[in-house]
Amino acid sequence: MTAHAADRLWEASADLVVVGTGVAGLTAALDAAEAGLRVVVVTKDAADEGSTRWAQGGVAVVLGDLAGDSVEAHIADTLAAGGGLNDEAAVAAIIRGGPAAVRRLRERGASFDARGGRLDRTREGGHSAFRVVHAGGDATGAEVERALLAAASGLALLTGHVAVDAVRDASGRAAGLSVLDDAGRPGLLRAPAVLLASGGYGQLYASTTNPGTSTGDGVALALRAGATAADLEFVQFHPTVLYTGPAVGRRPLVTEAVRGEGAVLRDRTGTRFMTGVHPLADLAPRDVVAAAITRRMAETGADAVYLDATGLPGFAKRFPTVFASCREAGVDPRREPIPVTPAAHYACGGVVADVDGRTSVPGLYAAGEVARTGLHGANRLASNSLLEGLVTGERVVRAVVADLGTPRSASSELVLPAPAVGVADRGVVQRAMSAFAGIGRDAAGLAVASDVVEAATQPATPIDRAGVEDAALTLLAQAVLAAAGTRRETRGCHVRTDFPERDDVWQRSSLPISLDASGRPVIGTDVLAGVA
Ligand code: SIN
Repeated sequence: MTAHAADRLWEASADLVVVGTGVAGLTAALDAAEAGLRVVVVTKDAADEGSTRWAQGGVAVVLGDLAGDSVEAHIADTLAAGGGLNDEAAVAAIIRGGPAAVRRLRERGASFDARGGRLDRTREGGHSAFRVVHAGGDATGAEVERALLAAASGLALLTGHVAVDAVRDASGRAAGLSVLDDAGRPGLLRAPAVLLASGGYGQLYASTTNPGTSTGDGVALALRAGATAADLEFVQFHPTVLYTGPAVGRRPLVTEAVRGEGAVLRDRTGTRFMTGVHPLADLAPRDVVAAAITRRMAETGADAVYLDATGLPGFAKRFPTVFASCREAGVDPRREPIPVTPAAHYACGGVVADVDGRTSVPGLYAAGEVARTGLHGANRLASNSLLEGLVTGERVVRAVVADLGTPRSASSELVLPAPAVGVADRGVVQRAMSAFAGIGRDAAGLAVASDVVEAATQPATPIDRAGVEDAALTLLAQAVLAAAGTRRETRGCHVRTDFPERDDVWQRSSLPISLDASGRPVIGTDVLAGVA
């Protein structure tokens, strides 16, 4: 759906174009510049407006300086949380790469909280040990983003430009990126390597922890370029966002580290309800806690449950971000339980990529939340996402450098995707997805949501950022609904009320999604094993 060649206002060239200024994109851009590549970073908003800055809990990593934890235990926890769908080689590679990547981040200026001469660790759902390093108490993402942006101050950074399409050469290889600026003016960045690091699609839902930028642009762009996506049905809902009444848009996160430090969930009668649900009780993996909260809200007819942190010493100092959000909402977590509900939080699936970021389209790479490396399986372990962004952000640059050394087509002719796509009203999509494709889905509801999205979808050629985002959300809605309807079992974040059990028929199988000739998502039948 790119602008026609004749409409292009400007052209520029680079060795690598990076889409996104979060942890994966900036890590890659910095490494690429250090490797001598001409790199241009593109972001549709201000540089710090992505999801990374909103991350609270921290980075899960085993640094080897504490007894009682090991990389093997971190791998085991990741696999246990992932519900049998993780790619074990990807899990091992990314988690083993964690300590070096965190060291590198610290060398780049990130400052983590310390206690007693070593980095402080917290715990989150699904972790068998205190292994999550954090910054500013509960402002880890903000510190990571600050440090990486400061380190990247000398890089070519194009803010206010939304990525529209990957353009390809005659051989099908990615050859650049078409963009629109804030005024809707088109441009073209020619480059033999394009890295998508554009985050997830939490804005598919009315209530989410994600910023307004998380509209699935990267997954949609990759699908249109011919890449495969997978595991899109595994939308992770964070168990605890601050409940302040019915509201839409980004909601304030209440980090799982609050439970890691001892807070417990209670229903409206004050009864604890996680004990007996899972051996780890309130610190069960996130999918388990979010589903249990949803059930308890339905059973009690309440709009929220309550996170009781009144017994935690020094709450305001340890969790300044959460404390400020609570106080703004008139809640004092030192004296009263915090009303919380689940909200859409993280895309466990995405563009199928190996741990070096390679997708099925040569020259097109993906890293961070936009990618499906197989680290997360059916449910991401808390604080493995900043880790994945750091590790794969580094690895992808080594892959790009190696791939740039291989012979390529000499043709400079570009193939542009068809300009028209399907676009539905964003509010209609969000309401349908929230009502029928959240925690607890069934065939009838998914069919209703599909019909609603279908009826609202019109052919259009997006001419500005909002249009590009709406097109991406429409395509993602179609794809998530197709995948959620196909997976007739409950696994990880995908809870089917009409198929409430895990079914071994689906063990180890991911649903690969690509676009047919008319641009509609279709599900492949093959079991995925790494890159399609
Ligand atoms: C949290 O702090 O609870 C969120 C961490 C994450 O999503 O990994």
